[in-house]
Amino acid sequence: MEIAVTSAAETATQPGLFGLMAQRRHEQLALWSEPELGYRGIIAIHDTTLGPALGGTRFWNYEADRDAIVDALRLSRGMTYKAAVSGVSLGGGKSVIIGDNRTADREEIFRAHGRAVESLKGRYITAEDVGTSVHDMEFVREETEHVVGLLGRSGDPSPVTAYGVFVGMKACAMERYGDDSLEDRKVAVQGLGNVGRHLCGYLVEAGARLVITDIRPDRLRAVAAELPGAETSAPNDIYAAKADIFAPCALGAVVNNRTLRVLRVDIIAGAANNQLAESRHGELLHARNILYAPDYVINAGGLVNVYGELQGWDTDQGKRKAGEIYETLLRIFNLSKNQDVATSVAADRFARARILEARRLRSRRPGRSRTEANGGREPNGTPQERRPAGVRGRTRGGASATRLAGDDRQRELHVAGGPGGAGNGLHP
Ligand SMILES: NC(=O)c1ccc[n+]([C@@H]2O[C@H](COP(=O)([O-])OP(=O)(O)OC[C@H]3O[C@@H](n4cnc5c(N)ncnc54)[C@H](O)[C@@H]3O)[C@@H](O)[C@H]2O)c1
Repeated sequence: MEIAVTSAAETATQPGLFGLMAQRRHEQLALWSEPELGYRGIIAIHDTTLGPALGGTRFWNYEADRDAIVDALRLSRGMTYKAAVSGVSLGGGKSVIIGDNRTADREEIFRAHGRAVESLKGRYITAEDVGTSVHDMEFVREETEHVVGLLGRSGDPSPVTAYGVFVGMKACAMERYGDDSLEDRKVAVQGLGNVGRHLCGYLVEAGARLVITDIRPDRLRAVAAELPGAETSAPNDIYAAKADIFAPCALGAVVNNRTLRVLRVDIIAGAANNQLAESRHGELLHARNILYAPDYVINAGGLVNVYGELQGWDTDQGKRKAGEIYETLLRIFNLSKNQDVATSVAADRFARARILEARRLRSRRPGRSRTEANGGREPNGTPQERRPAGVRGRTRGGASATRLAGDDRQRELHVAGGPGGAGNGLHP
């Protein structure tokens, strides 16, 4: 297969594949090609200390194969951190299919992707993400059981994500105002899609005042009509809106040099992924005393929702677990104060601490599984939950996925050759 990874000139300045993996400490990178179907897939597994790597499948026309690999590596690491802070027994992974996501040949492509996922025997569990849909995941399911977010199962994660953002916002209010009531607090909501709309419902119920915006005027009008009393704003004016809380629920990189000049809120708490344009913007928020709820902590309700599907939870159990975002944020805010670091830095430290603790517990008692080593409890002290399908018992391929996900972790570059070959959003 062709990998447009390095030209001679680039070699001197850019790391190769193993260098890229080492940079972010990835366990595995699997490439799968079926040229006759036009399928080129990448699966990046970042860390399986806490459980099998879970993360969605992104379908995107990358300019170069290297860009796709870097994206998969970057996004899978984000999933490790999101899983670690949300207290679920999952690691971080992500897959990417290179190509035009408007293609009509979806069954062939996604069945090929299912074969790629299956070859990893439960070390990686996939779901929908940018450019893919729950219908595509049904094709994946034809080839592997290691897929979540299927039709008729956990369903649209947005209501649970919105609930997590709502309780997270209350934790922010508690931290900033000493009272978690949102009554009369003014919240500027950017983006009235699946999450934003549900969030507005919770906020109105809690007595908050709203200023809302969306780039789609029809959507803005429709939501405003459902929310009497809500002010509307032009999309570009939302950053300067006079509000207590800014809730980005549309796109990433909204905290940047330009918006920092006009943002006057006390709190930033919203669903969007990758809200900080650069990590230094987290430090700038800290310096300006704007309380930032790290995006991957506050928007983890979607991940909790699919985890619930693996556990067989009902909606209430999923919501209860997402409700833990409140306590988690308070702990992260404490860490931020005690160590005088940005909340974004504190969240990363919190996530790493959970993973290191799990590793420590395991290494203390060699030969025991990660939960046995902790008296049948999870590393964070919660009682052992039902193992996700991928890590319980034996998988279709006959290998014990518990073993694969744990002590025998494969640190390899795995280039598979096709269906008979050597092996095989989620939004971070
Ligand atoms: N859906 C989930 O469960 C989930 C989970 C975790 C993170 N997220 C993240 O939360 C965000 C929202 O997710 P969603 O599922 O509601 O997406 P969505 O596509 O349903 O809604 C996004 C909305 O934002 C609007 N928008 C886009 N650009 C805008 C701009 N510049 N100004 C104002 N509005 C703009 C769009 O018109 C749309 O209505 C995304 O960043 C997503 O990655 C979602």
